Amino acid sequence: MSSLKGKKPHAVCIPFPSQGHINPMLKISILLHSKGFHITFVNSEYNHKRLLKSRGPSSLKGFQDFVFETIPDGLPPIDSDTTQHIPSLCFSTKETCLAPFKELLIKINSSNDVPKVTCIIFDGIMTFAVLAAQEIGVPSVSFRTTNACSFMCNKHLPLLIEKGILPLKDTSDITNGYLDTVIDCIPSMKNLRLREFPSQIRTTDINDKLLNFIMGETEGASKASAIIFHTFDTLEINVLRDLSLICPPLYTIGPLHLLTDQLPENSLKFLRANLWKEDEDCIQWLNSKEEKSVVYVNFGSITVLTKTQLMEFAWGLANSKKNFFWVIRSDAVVGDDSAMLPNYFVEETKERGIISRWCCQEQVLKHSSIGAFLTHCGWNAVMESIGIGVPMICWPFFADQHINCRYVCCEWGVGLEIGKNVKRDEVEKIVREVMDGEKGKKVRKKMSDWKKLAEEATRLEGSSSLNLDKLVKDVLLS
Ligand code: UDX
Repeated sequence: MSSLKGKKPHAVCIPFPSQGHINPMLKISILLHSKGFHITFVNSEYNHKRLLKSRGPSSLKGFQDFVFETIPDGLPPIDSDTTQHIPSLCFSTKETCLAPFKELLIKINSSNDVPKVTCIIFDGIMTFAVLAAQEIGVPSVSFRTTNACSFMCNKHLPLLIEKGILPLKDTSDITNGYLDTVIDCIPSMKNLRLREFPSQIRTTDINDKLLNFIMGETEGASKASAIIFHTFDTLEINVLRDLSLICPPLYTIGPLHLLTDQLPENSLKFLRANLWKEDEDCIQWLNSKEEKSVVYVNFGSITVLTKTQLMEFAWGLANSKKNFFWVIRSDAVVGDDSAMLPNYFVEETKERGIISRWCCQEQVLKHSSIGAFLTHCGWNAVMESIGIGVPMICWPFFADQHINCRYVCCEWGVGLEIGKNVKRDEVEKIVREVMDGEKGKKVRKKMSDWKKLAEEATRLEGSSSLNLDKLVKDVLLS
Protein backbone atom coordinates (compact mmCIF):
# COMPACT_ATOMS: atom_id res chain seq x y z
CA MET A 1 0.00 0.00 0.00
CA SER A 2 2.67 2.51 1.01
CA SER A 3 4.60 2.01 -2.25
CA LEU A 4 1.38 2.67 -4.20
CA LYS A 5 0.80 5.80 -2.11
CA GLY A 6 4.23 7.09 -3.00
CA LYS A 7 3.36 6.95 -6.69
CA LYS A 8 -0.05 8.56 -6.64
CA PRO A 9 -0.43 12.09 -7.96
CA HIS A 10 -1.64 14.39 -5.22
CA ALA A 11 -3.95 17.35 -5.92
CA VAL A 12 -4.50 19.94 -3.23
CA CYS A 13 -7.88 21.60 -3.87
CA ILE A 14 -8.62 24.90 -2.17
CA PRO A 15 -12.06 26.48 -2.68
CA PHE A 16 -13.04 30.03 -1.76
CA PRO A 17 -14.75 29.46 1.58
CA SER A 18 -18.42 29.91 0.64
CA GLN A 19 -21.06 27.39 -0.38
CA GLY A 20 -21.26 28.25 -4.08
CA HIS A 21 -17.51 27.70 -4.40
CA ILE A 22 -17.10 24.67 -2.12
CA ASN A 23 -19.70 22.59 -3.98
CA PRO A 24 -18.19 22.72 -7.47
CA MET A 25 -14.63 22.35 -6.09
CA LEU A 26 -15.74 19.25 -4.23
CA LYS A 27 -17.08 17.83 -7.48
CA ILE A 28 -13.82 18.54 -9.33
CA SER A 29 -11.97 16.85 -6.45
CA ILE A 30 -14.22 13.80 -6.59
CA LEU A 31 -13.65 13.52 -10.34
CA LEU A 32 -9.87 13.73 -9.90
CA HIS A 33 -10.05 11.19 -7.10
CA SER A 34 -11.85 8.85 -9.51
CA LYS A 35 -8.93 9.32 -11.92
CA GLY A 36 -6.48 8.03 -9.32
CA PHE A 37 -5.46 11.22 -7.51
CA HIS A 38 -4.87 11.49 -3.81
CA ILE A 39 -6.88 14.57 -2.75
CA THR A 40 -6.38 17.08 0.02
CA PHE A 41 -9.44 19.34 0.23
CA VAL A 42 -8.73 22.55 2.13
CA ASN A 43 -11.64 24.13 3.98
CA SER A 44 -11.64 27.21 6.16
CA GLU A 45 -11.80 26.35 9.85
CA TYR A 46 -15.17 28.12 10.15
CA ASN A 47 -16.76 26.19 7.29
CA HIS A 48 -15.30 22.88 8.33
CA LYS A 49 -16.85 23.28 11.77
CA ARG A 50 -20.19 24.02 10.10
CA LEU A 51 -19.82 21.00 7.85
CA LEU A 52 -19.13 18.72 10.79
CA LYS A 53 -22.24 20.10 12.46
CA SER A 54 -24.54 19.85 9.46
CA ARG A 55 -23.33 16.52 8.05
CA GLY A 56 -21.94 14.75 11.11
CA PRO A 57 -18.22 13.98 11.73
CA SER A 58 -18.32 10.54 10.12
CA SER A 59 -19.50 12.00 6.80
CA LEU A 60 -16.13 13.69 6.22
CA LYS A 61 -13.52 11.13 7.12
CA GLY A 62 -12.38 7.62 6.59
CA PHE A 63 -12.10 7.80 2.80
CA GLN A 64 -9.17 6.26 1.11
CA ASP A 65 -6.97 8.96 -0.44
CA PHE A 66 -9.36 11.83 0.22
CA VAL A 67 -8.45 13.99 3.19
CA PHE A 68 -9.91 17.25 4.55
CA GLU A 69 -7.56 19.86 6.01
CA THR A 70 -8.28 23.35 7.32
CA ILE A 71 -6.68 26.78 7.41
CA PRO A 72 -8.02 29.96 9.06
CA ASP A 73 -9.87 32.42 6.80
CA GLY A 74 -8.48 35.48 8.58
CA LEU A 75 -11.82 36.77 9.86
CA PRO A 76 -12.55 37.12 13.58
CA PRO A 77 -14.16 33.89 14.86
CA ILE A 78 -17.95 33.83 15.14
CA ASP A 79 -20.04 31.15 16.67
CA SER A 80 -22.99 30.98 14.32
CA ASP A 81 -24.44 29.29 11.31
CA THR A 82 -24.50 32.16 8.88
CA THR A 83 -22.93 33.17 5.59
CA GLN A 84 -19.90 35.31 6.29
CA HIS A 85 -19.66 38.82 4.82
CA ILE A 86 -18.38 38.05 1.32
CA PRO A 87 -16.32 41.22 0.63
CA SER A 88 -14.58 40.82 4.03
CA LEU A 89 -13.89 37.20 3.18
CA CYS A 90 -12.42 38.22 -0.20
CA PHE A 91 -10.02 40.65 1.45
CA SER A 92 -9.08 38.45 4.39
CA THR A 93 -8.34 35.39 2.26
CA LYS A 94 -6.20 37.50 -0.05
CA GLU A 95 -4.34 39.14 2.82
CA THR A 96 -3.93 36.26 5.25
CA CYS A 97 -4.28 32.81 3.69
CA LEU A 98 -0.99 32.45 1.83
CA ALA A 99 1.11 31.82 4.95
CA PRO A 100 -1.10 29.09 6.51
CA PHE A 101 -1.59 27.53 3.08
CA LYS A 102 2.17 27.30 2.53
CA GLU A 103 2.59 25.84 6.02
CA LEU A 104 -0.01 23.22 5.17
CA LEU A 105 1.83 22.29 1.97
CA ILE A 106 5.09 21.94 3.91
CA LYS A 107 3.34 19.75 6.49
CA ILE A 108 1.90 17.53 3.76
CA ASN A 109 5.21 17.24 1.94
CA SER A 110 7.08 16.29 5.08
CA SER A 111 4.66 13.51 5.92
CA ASN A 112 5.48 9.91 5.04
CA ASP A 113 1.83 8.92 5.08
CA VAL A 114 0.69 10.75 1.97
CA PRO A 115 2.20 11.28 -1.49
CA LYS A 116 4.02 14.54 -2.21
CA VAL A 117 1.83 17.34 -3.60
CA THR A 118 1.95 17.28 -7.39
CA CYS A 119 -0.55 20.03 -8.31
CA ILE A 120 -2.82 22.68 -6.83
CA ILE A 121 -6.35 23.49 -7.96
CA PHE A 122 -7.35 26.84 -6.49
CA ASP A 123 -10.52 28.84 -6.63
CA GLY A 124 -10.39 31.57 -9.29
CA ILE A 125 -10.50 34.28 -6.61
CA MET A 126 -7.73 32.75 -4.47
CA THR A 127 -4.80 33.51 -6.77
CA PHE A 128 -2.36 33.72 -3.85
CA ALA A 129 -2.20 29.94 -4.31
CA VAL A 130 -0.13 30.44 -7.48
CA LEU A 131 2.75 31.68 -5.32
CA ALA A 132 2.49 28.67 -3.05
CA ALA A 133 2.53 26.35 -6.06
CA GLN A 134 5.54 28.12 -7.55
CA GLU A 135 7.40 27.75 -4.28
CA ILE A 136 7.02 23.97 -4.25
CA GLY A 137 7.46 23.74 -8.01
CA VAL A 138 4.10 22.25 -9.04
CA PRO A 139 1.51 23.37 -11.62
CA SER A 140 -1.45 25.41 -10.39
CA VAL A 141 -4.86 25.51 -12.01
CA SER A 142 -7.39 28.30 -11.52
CA PHE A 143 -10.92 26.96 -11.16
CA ARG A 144 -13.51 29.58 -12.08
CA THR A 145 -16.83 28.68 -10.46
CA THR A 146 -18.46 31.35 -12.60
CA ASN A 147 -18.92 31.18 -16.36
CA ALA A 148 -16.74 32.32 -19.25
CA CYS A 149 -19.01 35.30 -20.07
CA SER A 150 -18.65 36.79 -16.63
CA PHE A 151 -14.88 36.24 -16.74
CA MET A 152 -14.78 38.03 -20.10
CA CYS A 153 -16.65 41.00 -18.58
CA ASN A 154 -14.26 41.11 -15.62
CA LYS A 155 -11.29 40.90 -17.94
CA HIS A 156 -12.47 44.08 -19.69
CA LEU A 157 -13.16 46.21 -16.62
CA PRO A 158 -9.82 48.04 -17.08
CA LEU A 159 -10.93 48.91 -20.63
CA LEU A 160 -14.19 50.38 -19.33
CA ILE A 161 -12.15 52.47 -16.90
CA GLU A 162 -9.82 53.57 -19.70
CA LYS A 163 -12.83 54.64 -21.78
CA GLY A 164 -14.20 56.66 -18.86
CA ILE A 165 -17.33 54.50 -18.59
CA LEU A 166 -16.31 53.41 -15.09
CA PRO A 167 -16.26 54.26 -12.26
CA LEU A 168 -19.74 55.80 -11.97
CA LYS A 169 -19.74 59.59 -11.87
CA ASP A 170 -22.32 59.77 -9.13
CA THR A 171 -24.25 57.30 -6.96
CA SER A 172 -27.42 58.47 -8.72
CA ASP A 173 -26.06 56.64 -11.82
CA ILE A 174 -27.33 53.46 -10.18
CA THR A 175 -30.93 54.61 -10.56
CA ASN A 176 -30.90 57.28 -13.31
CA GLY A 177 -30.63 54.95 -16.29
CA TYR A 178 -26.83 55.13 -16.68
CA LEU A 179 -26.60 51.40 -16.05
CA ASP A 180 -28.63 50.91 -19.24
CA THR A 181 -25.66 52.19 -21.27
CA VAL A 182 -24.95 49.71 -24.05
CA ILE A 183 -21.43 48.28 -24.01
CA ASP A 184 -20.24 46.95 -27.35
CA CYS A 185 -16.49 46.68 -26.84
CA ILE A 186 -16.35 43.22 -25.27
CA PRO A 187 -15.28 40.50 -27.73
CA SER A 188 -18.15 38.20 -28.75
CA MET A 189 -20.59 39.85 -26.34
CA LYS A 190 -22.87 42.31 -28.10
CA ASN A 191 -25.43 44.78 -26.73
CA LEU A 192 -24.50 44.23 -23.13
CA ARG A 193 -25.84 46.75 -20.67
CA LEU A 194 -23.66 48.10 -17.93
CA ARG A 195 -26.11 46.71 -15.36
CA GLU A 196 -25.17 43.20 -16.51
CA PHE A 197 -21.57 43.64 -15.47
CA PRO A 198 -20.57 42.36 -12.01
CA SER A 199 -22.33 44.42 -9.35
CA GLN A 200 -18.91 45.44 -7.99
CA ILE A 201 -18.77 48.09 -10.74
CA ARG A 202 -21.48 50.08 -8.97
CA THR A 203 -19.03 52.42 -7.29
CA THR A 204 -17.86 56.00 -7.82
CA ASP A 205 -14.42 55.24 -6.39
CA ILE A 206 -11.73 54.09 -8.78
CA ASN A 207 -9.82 52.76 -5.76
CA ASP A 208 -12.79 50.78 -4.50
CA LYS A 209 -11.33 47.74 -2.78
CA LEU A 210 -13.82 45.21 -4.11
CA LEU A 211 -13.64 46.45 -7.70
CA ASN A 212 -9.85 46.23 -7.52
CA PHE A 213 -10.06 42.79 -5.92
CA ILE A 214 -12.14 41.52 -8.85
CA MET A 215 -9.78 43.03 -11.43
CA GLY A 216 -6.70 41.76 -9.58
CA GLU A 217 -8.00 38.22 -9.22
CA THR A 218 -9.08 38.15 -12.87
CA GLU A 219 -5.64 39.24 -14.00
CA GLY A 220 -4.02 36.82 -11.52
CA ALA A 221 -5.55 33.88 -13.40
CA SER A 222 -3.10 34.50 -16.23
CA LYS A 223 -0.27 33.29 -13.97
CA ALA A 224 -1.88 29.86 -13.56
CA SER A 225 -0.82 26.88 -15.65
CA ALA A 226 -4.43 26.51 -16.87
CA ILE A 227 -7.99 27.65 -16.17
CA ILE A 228 -11.02 25.43 -15.63
CA PHE A 229 -14.47 26.89 -16.32
CA HIS A 230 -17.55 25.22 -14.92
CA THR A 231 -19.40 25.30 -18.22
CA PHE A 232 -19.57 23.34 -21.47
CA ASP A 233 -18.27 24.26 -24.91
CA THR A 234 -21.50 24.68 -26.87
CA LEU A 235 -23.03 26.92 -24.21
CA GLU A 236 -20.39 29.64 -24.50
CA ILE A 237 -18.61 28.76 -27.70
CA ASN A 238 -17.83 32.29 -28.98
CA VAL A 239 -16.68 33.75 -25.71
CA LEU A 240 -14.52 30.71 -25.03
CA ARG A 241 -12.90 31.03 -28.44
CA ASP A 242 -12.03 34.69 -27.81
CA LEU A 243 -10.90 34.05 -24.25
CA SER A 244 -8.59 31.29 -25.38
CA LEU A 245 -6.60 33.95 -27.30
CA ILE A 246 -5.82 35.91 -24.14
CA CYS A 247 -5.65 33.30 -21.37
CA PRO A 248 -3.65 30.25 -20.32
CA PRO A 249 -5.07 26.96 -21.69
CA LEU A 250 -8.80 26.75 -20.93
CA TYR A 251 -10.68 23.59 -19.96
CA THR A 252 -14.47 23.59 -19.86
CA ILE A 253 -15.67 20.93 -17.46
CA GLY A 254 -19.39 20.88 -16.76
CA PRO A 255 -22.12 20.54 -15.80
CA LEU A 256 -20.17 18.94 -12.97
CA HIS A 257 -23.08 17.06 -11.45
CA LEU A 258 -23.69 15.25 -14.74
CA LEU A 259 -20.07 14.07 -14.66
CA THR A 260 -20.07 12.95 -11.02
CA ASP A 261 -23.46 11.24 -11.49
CA GLN A 262 -21.81 8.84 -13.93
CA LEU A 263 -19.13 7.69 -11.49
CA PRO A 264 -19.43 4.14 -10.17
CA GLU A 265 -21.12 3.42 -6.85
CA ASN A 266 -17.78 2.79 -5.16
CA SER A 267 -16.59 6.34 -5.96
CA LEU A 268 -16.97 9.30 -3.61
CA LYS A 269 -19.86 10.76 -5.62
CA PHE A 270 -22.10 10.65 -2.54
CA LEU A 271 -19.90 13.21 -0.73
CA ARG A 272 -21.72 16.50 -0.10
CA ALA A 273 -20.61 19.69 1.57
CA ASN A 274 -23.75 21.53 2.62
CA LEU A 275 -23.03 24.05 5.36
CA TRP A 276 -26.65 23.97 6.51
CA LYS A 277 -28.48 20.85 7.56
CA GLU A 278 -30.58 19.48 4.70
CA ASP A 279 -34.32 19.05 5.12
CA GLU A 280 -34.97 15.45 4.10
CA ASP A 281 -38.75 15.50 4.59
CA CYS A 282 -39.30 17.79 1.61
CA ILE A 283 -38.84 14.84 -0.74
CA GLN A 284 -41.80 13.07 0.79
CA TRP A 285 -43.93 16.17 0.24
CA LEU A 286 -42.70 16.44 -3.37
CA ASN A 287 -43.58 12.76 -3.85
CA SER A 288 -47.20 13.65 -3.13
CA LYS A 289 -47.33 16.23 -5.94
CA GLU A 290 -48.10 15.78 -9.62
CA GLU A 291 -45.45 15.88 -12.28
CA LYS A 292 -44.09 19.37 -13.04
CA SER A 293 -46.62 21.00 -10.70
CA VAL A 294 -44.26 22.61 -8.14
CA VAL A 295 -42.33 25.89 -8.32
CA TYR A 296 -39.04 25.44 -6.47
CA VAL A 297 -37.83 28.72 -4.93
CA ASN A 298 -34.26 29.07 -3.70
CA PHE A 299 -32.01 32.13 -3.73
CA GLY A 300 -28.79 30.33 -2.84
CA SER A 301 -26.38 30.85 -0.01
CA ILE A 302 -25.70 34.60 -0.01
CA THR A 303 -28.78 36.52 -1.21
CA VAL A 304 -30.65 38.51 1.41
CA LEU A 305 -34.13 39.91 0.89
CA THR A 306 -35.83 42.84 2.56
CA LYS A 307 -39.04 42.02 4.40
CA THR A 308 -40.97 43.80 1.64
CA GLN A 309 -39.36 41.65 -1.06
CA LEU A 310 -40.05 38.52 0.97
CA MET A 311 -43.74 39.43 1.22
CA GLU A 312 -44.03 40.31 -2.49
CA PHE A 313 -42.60 36.93 -3.45
CA ALA A 314 -44.81 35.22 -0.88
CA TRP A 315 -48.08 36.72 -2.11
CA GLY A 316 -47.05 36.38 -5.74
CA LEU A 317 -46.56 32.67 -5.17
CA ALA A 318 -49.75 32.36 -3.17
CA ASN A 319 -51.81 34.23 -5.78
CA SER A 320 -50.43 32.10 -8.61
CA LYS A 321 -52.24 29.17 -6.95
CA LYS A 322 -49.35 26.90 -7.91
CA ASN A 323 -47.64 24.45 -5.57
CA PHE A 324 -44.36 25.78 -4.22
CA PHE A 325 -41.38 24.56 -2.27
CA TRP A 326 -39.47 27.55 -0.89
CA VAL A 327 -36.11 27.42 0.84
CA ILE A 328 -35.55 30.42 3.12
CA ARG A 329 -32.25 30.32 5.01
CA SER A 330 -32.40 31.49 8.62
CA ASP A 331 -30.16 34.43 7.63
CA ALA A 332 -31.98 35.24 4.37
CA VAL A 333 -33.95 38.31 5.43
CA VAL A 334 -32.36 41.64 6.35
CA GLY A 335 -32.58 42.27 10.07
CA ASP A 336 -34.59 39.15 10.82
CA ASP A 337 -32.69 36.31 12.46
CA SER A 338 -35.44 33.80 12.00
CA ALA A 339 -36.70 34.90 8.56
CA MET A 340 -40.21 33.68 9.14
CA LEU A 341 -43.28 34.28 7.05
CA PRO A 342 -46.37 35.34 8.99
CA ASN A 343 -48.65 32.57 10.26
CA TYR A 344 -51.61 33.78 8.20
CA PHE A 345 -49.56 33.24 5.02
CA VAL A 346 -48.50 29.75 6.09
CA GLU A 347 -52.10 28.94 7.04
CA GLU A 348 -53.49 30.21 3.71
CA THR A 349 -50.99 28.25 1.60
CA LYS A 350 -50.62 25.09 3.68
CA GLU A 351 -52.37 22.91 1.12
CA ARG A 352 -49.95 23.77 -1.64
CA GLY A 353 -46.74 25.17 -0.20
CA ILE A 354 -43.90 24.20 2.14
CA ILE A 355 -40.95 26.14 3.43
CA SER A 356 -37.54 24.76 4.46
CA ARG A 357 -34.26 26.18 5.67
CA TRP A 358 -32.01 24.22 3.30
CA CYS A 359 -32.27 21.18 1.06
CA CYS A 360 -30.20 19.03 -1.25
CA GLN A 361 -30.84 21.18 -4.33
CA GLU A 362 -29.70 18.63 -6.88
CA GLN A 363 -32.07 16.04 -5.48
CA VAL A 364 -34.95 18.53 -5.49
CA LEU A 365 -34.30 19.76 -9.04
CA LYS A 366 -34.23 16.16 -10.25
CA HIS A 367 -37.62 15.45 -8.68
CA SER A 368 -40.32 14.88 -11.28
CA SER A 369 -42.76 17.22 -9.47
CA ILE A 370 -40.61 20.30 -10.11
CA GLY A 371 -41.94 22.45 -12.98
CA ALA A 372 -39.88 25.64 -12.57
CA PHE A 373 -37.03 27.07 -10.53
CA LEU A 374 -37.28 30.61 -9.14
CA THR A 375 -33.60 31.39 -8.66
CA HIS A 376 -31.09 34.18 -7.97
CA CYS A 377 -29.06 32.86 -10.95
CA GLY A 378 -26.00 31.78 -8.98
CA TRP A 379 -23.86 29.98 -11.53
CA ASN A 380 -24.18 26.59 -9.81
CA ALA A 381 -27.95 26.98 -9.74
CA VAL A 382 -27.95 27.72 -13.48
CA MET A 383 -25.69 24.78 -14.36
CA GLU A 384 -27.73 22.43 -12.20
CA SER A 385 -30.95 23.66 -13.78
CA ILE A 386 -29.66 23.31 -17.34
CA GLY A 387 -28.15 19.89 -16.66
CA ILE A 388 -31.46 18.67 -15.23
CA GLY A 389 -33.69 20.61 -17.65
CA VAL A 390 -35.77 22.80 -15.32
CA PRO A 391 -36.92 26.20 -16.71
CA MET A 392 -35.91 29.21 -14.62
CA ILE A 393 -37.52 32.34 -13.27
CA CYS A 394 -34.66 34.71 -12.56
CA TRP A 395 -34.18 37.32 -9.88
CA PRO A 396 -30.45 38.14 -9.88
CA PHE A 397 -29.04 39.65 -6.71
CA PHE A 398 -25.33 40.45 -7.04
CA ALA A 399 -21.90 39.70 -8.55
CA ASP A 400 -22.05 37.51 -11.69
CA GLN A 401 -25.77 36.80 -11.30
CA HIS A 402 -26.75 39.73 -13.56
CA ILE A 403 -24.76 38.46 -16.54
CA ASN A 404 -25.92 34.90 -15.84
CA CYS A 405 -29.52 36.13 -15.93
CA ARG A 406 -28.94 37.97 -19.22
CA TYR A 407 -27.61 34.80 -20.84
CA VAL A 408 -30.27 32.54 -19.30
CA CYS A 409 -33.14 34.77 -20.46
CA CYS A 410 -31.92 36.47 -23.65
CA GLU A 411 -29.22 34.28 -25.19
CA TRP A 412 -30.13 30.72 -24.20
CA GLY A 413 -33.86 31.37 -23.78
CA VAL A 414 -34.28 29.07 -20.79
CA GLY A 415 -35.76 31.52 -18.28
CA LEU A 416 -37.84 34.65 -17.71
CA GLU A 417 -36.70 37.56 -15.55
CA ILE A 418 -38.48 39.22 -12.64
CA GLY A 419 -37.72 42.95 -12.23
CA LYS A 420 -35.40 44.16 -9.49
CA ASN A 421 -38.26 45.88 -7.63
CA VAL A 422 -40.20 42.71 -7.25
CA LYS A 423 -43.99 43.07 -7.14
CA ARG A 424 -46.49 40.34 -6.29
CA ASP A 425 -48.51 40.78 -9.51
CA GLU A 426 -45.40 40.28 -11.61
CA VAL A 427 -44.38 37.20 -9.63
CA GLU A 428 -47.86 35.73 -10.05
CA LYS A 429 -47.89 36.48 -13.80
CA ILE A 430 -44.42 35.06 -14.52
CA VAL A 431 -45.01 31.96 -12.41
CA ARG A 432 -48.22 31.24 -14.34
CA GLU A 433 -46.51 32.06 -17.63
CA VAL A 434 -43.59 29.68 -17.05
CA MET A 435 -45.79 26.90 -15.69
CA ASP A 436 -48.68 27.09 -18.22
CA GLY A 437 -48.21 29.91 -20.73
CA GLU A 438 -46.98 30.18 -24.31
CA LYS A 439 -43.66 31.76 -23.29
CA GLY A 440 -43.29 28.96 -20.77
CA LYS A 441 -43.66 26.41 -23.59
CA LYS A 442 -40.90 28.09 -25.56
CA VAL A 443 -38.60 28.24 -22.54
CA ARG A 444 -39.28 24.55 -21.82
CA LYS A 445 -38.44 23.60 -25.39
CA LYS A 446 -35.19 25.60 -25.34
CA MET A 447 -34.33 24.09 -21.99
CA SER A 448 -34.81 20.59 -23.33
CA ASP A 449 -32.45 21.41 -26.25
CA TRP A 450 -29.75 22.77 -23.90
CA LYS A 451 -30.17 19.82 -21.57
CA LYS A 452 -29.41 17.49 -24.48
CA LEU A 453 -26.28 19.48 -25.30
CA ALA A 454 -25.20 19.37 -21.65
CA GLU A 455 -25.66 15.61 -21.69
CA GLU A 456 -23.67 15.33 -24.90
CA ALA A 457 -20.83 17.34 -23.40
CA THR A 458 -20.62 15.01 -20.42
CA ARG A 459 -20.81 11.69 -22.30
CA LEU A 460 -17.67 9.57 -22.49
CA GLU A 461 -16.55 11.26 -25.71
CA GLY A 462 -18.14 14.62 -24.91
CA SER A 463 -16.13 17.85 -24.67
CA SER A 464 -16.28 18.13 -20.87
CA SER A 465 -15.21 14.51 -20.32
CA LEU A 466 -12.40 14.82 -22.85
CA ASN A 467 -11.29 18.13 -21.32
CA LEU A 468 -11.05 16.55 -17.90
CA ASP A 469 -8.81 13.82 -19.33
CA LYS A 470 -6.74 16.39 -21.21
CA LEU A 471 -6.33 18.53 -18.10
CA VAL A 472 -5.07 15.52 -16.17
CA LYS A 473 -2.68 14.43 -18.88
CA ASP A 474 -1.40 17.79 -20.15
CA VAL A 475 -1.31 19.84 -16.97
CA LEU A 476 -1.79 17.93 -13.73
CA LEU A 477 0.52 15.03 -14.57
CA SER A 478 2.97 17.00 -16.68
C1 UDX B 1 -22.57 32.70 -5.47
C2 UDX B 1 -22.70 33.21 -6.93
O1 UDX B 1 -23.94 33.67 -7.21
C3 UDX B 1 -22.24 32.22 -7.93
O2 UDX B 1 -22.53 32.60 -9.25
C4 UDX B 1 -20.80 32.10 -7.72
O3 UDX B 1 -20.23 31.29 -8.70
C5 UDX B 1 -20.61 31.54 -6.34
O4 UDX B 1 -21.18 32.39 -5.34
P1 UDX B 1 -24.50 31.11 -4.28
O5 UDX B 1 -25.40 32.17 -3.80
O6 UDX B 1 -23.93 30.25 -3.28
O7 UDX B 1 -23.29 31.53 -5.22
O8 UDX B 1 -25.36 30.28 -5.36
P2 UDX B 1 -25.00 29.11 -6.32
O9 UDX B 1 -23.90 29.44 -7.26
O10 UDX B 1 -26.25 28.68 -6.95
O11 UDX B 1 -24.44 27.95 -5.35
C6 UDX B 1 -25.20 27.42 -4.29
C7 UDX B 1 -24.92 25.94 -4.18
O12 UDX B 1 -25.57 25.46 -2.99
C8 UDX B 1 -25.47 25.12 -5.33
O13 UDX B 1 -24.56 24.08 -5.65
C9 UDX B 1 -26.76 24.51 -4.78
O14 UDX B 1 -27.05 23.23 -5.31
C10 UDX B 1 -26.47 24.39 -3.31
N1 UDX B 1 -27.69 24.56 -2.51
C11 UDX B 1 -28.28 25.77 -2.41
C12 UDX B 1 -28.21 23.46 -1.88
O15 UDX B 1 -27.72 22.33 -1.99
N2 UDX B 1 -29.33 23.64 -1.12
C13 UDX B 1 -29.95 24.83 -0.95
O16 UDX B 1 -30.96 24.89 -0.24
C14 UDX B 1 -29.40 25.95 -1.63
